[in-house]
This record gives sequence, C-alpha cells and structure tokens, in this order.
Amino acid sequence: MADPYSEKALHFFNQYQKLAFEDVHQHWLAQLPESPGSALDVGAGSGRDAAALASRGWHVLAAEPATALRQLGENAARHLAVEWCEDHLPELSHVRTLDHRFDLILVSAVWMHLPPSQRNTAFQVLTDLLSPGGILVITLRHGPGDGERVFYETNRDELERLAESQSLASLPVAEGKETDRMGRSEVAWETAVFQNP
Ligand SMILES: C[S@@+](CC[C@H](N)C(=O)[O-])C[C@H]1O[C@@H](n2cnc3c(N)ncnc32)[C@H](O)[C@@H]1O
Repeated sequence: MADPYSEKALHFFNQYQKLAFEDVHQHWLAQLPESPGSALDVGAGSGRDAAALASRGWHVLAAEPATALRQLGENAARHLAVEWCEDHLPELSHVRTLDHRFDLILVSAVWMHLPPSQRNTAFQVLTDLLSPGGILVITLRHGPGDGERVFYETNRDELERLAESQSLASLPVAEGKETDRMGRSEVAWETAVFQNP
C-alpha cells in the first residue's frame, strides 16, 4: 500500500520541523529524567524530537519506517548523537536484535497508525525494551482522518489496561487541554507516561 510518509516526505518533514519539541511535549517534560541516558524515538518522522533529546545529551536511536522521511531526518541531525534505523511497530525487529534497553522510549503521534489488533504486541515489545526505571511516553491523537493517511481510534483506557498488564506504573502529566500544535481545531492530543518499576 502507498505510504504518504514516503510519497510526501518533504511535506511532512517541513511540517514537523516547524514545531518545537518543548512545545509539542510540554505536558510530560517534567517527567524527562534530568540526567540524560539512552532514548528510543519510535516513528521518529523528521527527527525533531530525536535531535532535541540529543541536544540535551541523550544518545538517541531513531526508528522510522518511511525511507525518504528517515533520510531527510538523518541528514538534518547528522551532527548530533542520533543513530537511525528502519524499523516499525509492532515488532521493532531490528531494534530488538540490538539487545539494548532504553531509559526513555518516545512514541509520539504514532499509536493512531497501529491497528488495535497489533497494540498488545506493540506494547509488550516496548515494555521489554525499557530499562529498569525507564519511562515510556505515548501521545494519542483524537479526531477524524485526513483522507490520506490511515488512522485508528485511540483511547487512554486501552493504554492504561496494557500498562497494567505489563506491571508498568502510570505517571502524572500536566493538566490542561492538549490542542493540536498545527492548529487543526478538530484534532486533540493526549499524553500517557508509564514507568518500568
Ligand atoms: C504523525 S508522524 C509523527 C512523527 C514524529 N514522531 C513526530 O511526533 O513528529 C507518524 C510517524 O510514524 C511513522 N509510522 C507509521 N506507522 C508506524 C509503525 N507501525 N511503527 C513505527 N512508526 C510508524 C510514520 O512513518 C511517521 O513518521
């Protein structure tokens, strides 16, 4: 099936690069560990977040399935401690071969692309990649599709149940409405943060 993230890579790259990490992720930034460690950015897109984390001293592995988008991101972040790979949920087959655990895993604006039937596996794979004490951040998109990309419904309860089944603790995020940073009034966001004990 055609992948808009590959076919319109430059369009999406420019769109995502216009946003600031600190703005997009303001609701959970208080949970970002003060001392940097190793981070995995799943569905890294333009690499905006991977680059911001690397600038804060994190060693980042950016996994992105869309080749053209990944190449643009890789080029933009070439001077930073960001490594890139081609991989995708639910299996993250390549990342798992590295036998590495991450202190932070970011799944930003990706969960809505996962069919519900793949979410159990995806969540288990993500949990297995967390180091002890590591945190998993997942942002959820609420709102209609755009006629171009495939979106599935997301809900926070589903994530809470998955976290409970993996014995992850739910961490608080800042209160307040998470409006769409691209100004789409019909789209809203929600952030969930979980910690491996
Ligand atoms: C809306 S963009 C978000 C990009 C970036 N994380 C951000 O917050 O700006 C969604 C990204 O998820 C990637 N993606 C789609 N399906 C995926 C999957 N099953 N596993 C990992 N990434 C996926 C797309 O290629 C795209 O780069």
